[in-house]
Amino acid sequence: MNFQINSFEEYQDAYKKSVENPEQFWGEIADHFFWKRKWNNVLNWNFTEPNIKWFEGGKLNITENCLDRHIYQNGDTPAIIWEPNDPTEAHRILTYKQLLAKVEQFANVLKNNNVRKGDRVCIYLPMVPELVIAILACARIGAIHSVVFGGFSAQSIADRINDAECKLVITADGGFRGPKVLELKSIVDDALMQCKSVEKVIVLTRSRTPVSMIKGRDVWWEDEIKKVETQDNPPCPAEEMDSEDPLFVLYTSGSTGKPKGVVHTTAGYMVYTGYTFSNVFQYQPGEVYFCTADIGWITGHSYIVYGPLSQGATSLMFEGVPTYPDAGRFWDIVEKYKVNILYTAPTAIRSLMAFGDSFIEGKDLSSLKKLGSVGEPINKEAWEWYHEKIGRGKAPITDTWWQTENGGILIAPLPGITPTIPSYAMLPLPGVQPCLMDENGNELEGNDVSGNLCIKFPWPGMLRTTWGDHERCRQTYFTAYKNMYFTGDGCYRSPEGYYRITGRVDDVLNVSGHRIGTAELENAINMHSDVVESAIVGYPHPVKGQGIYAYVIANHHIDAEGTRKDILQTVTRLIGAIAKPDIIQFVTDLPKTRSGKIMRRILRKIAEGELSSLGDTTTLQDPTVVEKIIEGAEKLRK
Ligand code: WTA
Repeated sequence: MNFQINSFEEYQDAYKKSVENPEQFWGEIADHFFWKRKWNNVLNWNFTEPNIKWFEGGKLNITENCLDRHIYQNGDTPAIIWEPNDPTEAHRILTYKQLLAKVEQFANVLKNNNVRKGDRVCIYLPMVPELVIAILACARIGAIHSVVFGGFSAQSIADRINDAECKLVITADGGFRGPKVLELKSIVDDALMQCKSVEKVIVLTRSRTPVSMIKGRDVWWEDEIKKVETQDNPPCPAEEMDSEDPLFVLYTSGSTGKPKGVVHTTAGYMVYTGYTFSNVFQYQPGEVYFCTADIGWITGHSYIVYGPLSQGATSLMFEGVPTYPDAGRFWDIVEKYKVNILYTAPTAIRSLMAFGDSFIEGKDLSSLKKLGSVGEPINKEAWEWYHEKIGRGKAPITDTWWQTENGGILIAPLPGITPTIPSYAMLPLPGVQPCLMDENGNELEGNDVSGNLCIKFPWPGMLRTTWGDHERCRQTYFTAYKNMYFTGDGCYRSPEGYYRITGRVDDVLNVSGHRIGTAELENAINMHSDVVESAIVGYPHPVKGQGIYAYVIANHHIDAEGTRKDILQTVTRLIGAIAKPDIIQFVTDLPKTRSGKIMRRILRKIAEGELSSLGDTTTLQDPTVVEKIIEGAEKLRK
């Protein structure tokens, strides 16, 4: 599909055009997709409400773009290659033809179970092909999917189901993750005790973990498929959707207590993920592309499912973890399928690096042509290891910066075309207008400056709202700086004009590439009956990027070890194991200003062990608190 940039000059031309004439630019790109009816208006926007509409008046279905339109010429091309958790189990390949048939079939199952256009469907499945099938089946009939990552707890699922008022849940009996079995159905059962909106649960057989099926509510995936098969497996026509009809909701953590449902709509998201997939990975027909993310996160939505499939690519999905059965698993997969493009996260790279090079030795990685990184800043050492050991010094690395709210990649090198520097995301993609702002709301012009990263102009893949609460969307992203989208990230622009993301400037942590809101985590910890108050900060962690440091005031000090374990358990129950603090320090008081605000800056410095730069502590209610905390921190370190 012919919007791929082939040279630096083409990049510059495209960029210039996208800024000078964005409507013409995006209109021409959108022409490369299949529309049931063409749009009237490319763009209509303001950032004050905000009100953002792309391709208004257009009618389409994203699954026709991801499936049907590839059938005639590329029907036998593998769409999904699935590698199971256990390397001795058989892998699966679904061609475009087969995937379309399965999507239509399951879309009919959804209809049989009373799911209609606009209904919300919660998907809580392991990384199996049925996850992709379920997602696309929702999109086929215009139902809005809300995928919940398999590592979230029952409480988190319940919160997400209730917020979006999901009507149906799709899950599995259990899921395999490395040596563990996750009891997904049982977790869903716990969640549903609190969810009134759910009428039906469809359960896929995966792990053969015993489950209890509730009469009238729970049905087996396989039985439901049989019912539509006996109707001669009729096709399921694609529902005609408006460009701005919601495609999905995906919950993400922010600086306030409750995760928010980021809403992406149909046409803009499709155009943006397709365009960026093709360009950022320089995808060529026949290449095997392997993104190691979980589909429960935005990276999986955009760059395992929608982006690659809309471009007719072969997308490899992996059920397991990088270290099972050993730390060479990724490299075995690369060798087995002759993977050409690998897209993974710095945390995975750092952890594999720590296992040593013996797991790479003897593996044939010569198929790898392009490498990608996503989710958090990649440090120079990890970048170089990735480049040398995995890319054999040849495969260029694209360090892709973006967010759940962005829908797709915003700043990244085009491998082999634009320059790369370790730890830099480099240049904005066409259509993306980044700017750096100082604390007073002034734009920092010129180069060699650092500030808060904002985007000045809409791009098609951006969020439109947060589910059920548009005001929250406005407040979170569009009020910090007038007429701009605020990312929450800090950024440096080099003398050459290259962008380097320096990390979050708000109260959001990035732990192993996962976003954790400190307020959300504090709320969870405070639920524990022995906890009076808590404060969470991040600190540099060699593998996770950031570790979680919890300062906790507890009312029983007798059994610190026991309380610590209980707190970890509470967090696992309320959010999920991914949010468990790495360090818990019990304190008797927290450093607060006279108005009662916790001074996190000081807590951060203590957690980082940077005691020489604590800064001004004279505005504290009680400056001696700091000394006590430092003492405690030093004891913990020993
Ligand atoms: C961080 C993931 C540095 C950033 C796609 C952002 C990055 C947050 C990079 C979004 C990168 C993502 N370099 N930092 N290449 N990519 N981030 O919503 O802080 O899970 O705001 O989206 O991850 O995380 P999210």
